[in-house]
Formats: sequence, C-alpha cells, structure tokens
Amino acid sequence: MKIGVIGFGALGSAIVEGLIKSKIPSTEILVSDIDQKKLKRAESLGVKISNNQEICETVDVIILAVKPKDFNKAVEELKKMDESKALISFVAGLKIEKIVSELKCKNIFRGMPNLSVKVCDSIIGLTAFSGVDSKVKENVIKLLSRIGEVIEVEERFLDTLTSISGSGIAFASEIIKAFYEAGVMLGLDHETAKKVSLKVFSGTTKLLAEEDFDRIFKLVATPAGTTIEGVYVLEKNGVRGAIIEAIKAAADKASRLLS
Ligand SMILES: NC(=O)c1ccc[n+]([C@@H]2O[C@H](COP(=O)([O-])OP(=O)(O)OC[C@H]3O[C@@H](n4cnc5c(N)ncnc54)[C@H](OP(=O)(O)O)[C@@H]3O)[C@@H](O)[C@H]2O)c1
Repeated sequence: MKIGVIGFGALGSAIVEGLIKSKIPSTEILVSDIDQKKLKRAESLGVKISNNQEICETVDVIILAVKPKDFNKAVEELKKMDESKALISFVAGLKIEKIVSELKCKNIFRGMPNLSVKVCDSIIGLTAFSGVDSKVKENVIKLLSRIGEVIEVEERFLDTLTSISGSGIAFASEIIKAFYEAGVMLGLDHETAKKVSLKVFSGTTKLLAEEDFDRIFKLVATPAGTTIEGVYVLEKNGVRGAIIEAIKAAADKASRLLS
C-alpha cells in the first residue's frame, strides 16, 4: 500500500516517523510540503519526496496534515483524486461535509491523533464519511492502528479530542514538567528528576488501566499522612478545575477554527 503525506510539519513528520517505526518501508511513503527545508529532513528518512499532484495520482491513502488555513489551496490539488483512493484528513476543525463537497472521492475520513503517533502510542479518533467502502475503511483502520489506538467516534467529538488529546500532549507535558522542576528544587539532579517524573506518570497510567481513581487515592493517601497534605494544596489552588477549564477552552476554540 502506498501512502502519501501532505504537510511534513509537526504532525505529518511524526506520522511518517511512526509509520517507519511500525515497519512500513520508507519507500512506500511519499511526502510533500511547500517548505523545502522540511523536505530535506524527510529525505533523510528515506521517503520519496513528492508533490501533491504525484501523490494524488500514485498513492492508495492520502494523509492530509496541513493547517486549517491551508486546506483550500491543498484541496485544489486533490480534485483529480481517483474514487478508489482514501483521504484521511487530520485538519483540526475541518468538517467531513466540506471535504466531500470539494472532492469526487467518497472514501473520506476525518481523524484526530496526537503527537504520540511518532512513538506509535497515540489515540486516534476517527470518523468515516457515510459513503466509504467497507474494505477501504478496514485498511485505513489497520494502517492507523500501527501508530495508535483507533477509536471510532461521532464527528462532533473530534473537537473534544482535538483539545483533550491533540493539545493534551502539551498540557500533560507542562504538568510532568512541574514534577521535574519540583524534583530539581528538592535537590535531585536534572536527569534523575526527569526520569522519576516520567516514571510516576507512566506507572500511574498503567495502574489506572486496572484500578479506579478513588481506589488509588485511598491506597496512597494515608489519613494524616504526607499525600493528603499535598492533595490539600492542589485542591486549594484549584488545579483540577484549571485543567478542566484549559481542556474546555481548547475544545471551544477547536469548534470555532474554521467558522
Ligand atoms: N501538531 C499537533 O500536535 C497536531 C495534533 C493533531 C492535529 N493536528 C492538525 O494537523 C494539521 C497540521 O498541524 P501541524 O502542527 O503539523 O502544522 P505545521 O507544523 O504547520 O505543518 C503543516 C505543513 O504543511 C505545509 N503545507 C501548507 N500547505 C501545503 C500544501 N498545499 N501542500 C503541502 N504542504 C503544505 C506547511 O508549510 P508552511 O509551514 O510553509 O506553511 C507546513 O510545513 C493541523 O490542521 C492541525 O490542526 C496537529
């Protein structure tokens, strides 16, 4: 299967790196970008440097990873797309209805991944246009499953995923960074502080896959112990409320992106 990635920016490059890590031969991947400097980096990964017209003519699945403002120009070059091909748009805020109205191809998918596609550990929300071919859909899900866990969602929830998952990487990174900084403040060397902080989050994630939130809290927070002192400070400062508000603000913005 030949894959074409249009836009080799933050997301497009992470997708390509993830696909290569998942053992897709780099020679099966075509990449285009209007920024020549970005294409130099793509070249070093062994992918074929291409253009939108060639991608449109030669690949089976096109992944669109341009900013919302660049969609109108990019879609002009996709007008000749053959009906049998599939297009996966990761453009935030761009509705399937709009894409379908611009192209004659019916195998249109809209998705929302996050940057963890680079390490094949993303969560990818996916909505398929009602007219997609079932075999094509199966292949698209199989392809995306190489770089993340695919969850099919109603299109309206893609804006939610844009914030909680797409932007969520930046939010989570800020929170983990605060742990790291606290470690440094308490005297750990930088490397150890980072290692410990990352492990706390990866370990918590694994635990939470098996236990619920309240049970973890009860197991760790001994009455009159150290943990509850810290939890009180978090609550007094409205940390959870601030995180919820941040995710909600990003979701509100996502829903207004192309309006
Ligand atoms: N970054 C994330 O974590 C993330 C997560 C989920 C979803 N997304 C979505 O993914 C899309 C891309 O985001 P990004 O952060 O990767 O943006 P980005 O870093 O700006 O990358 C987009 C790239 O596409 C290029 N481009 C623009 N028009 C083009 C065209 N017609 N043909 C080929 N290449 C073109 C841009 O070139 P110029 O820079 O020269 O314009 C840029 O290099 C956005 O819609 C975003 O909402 C991003």
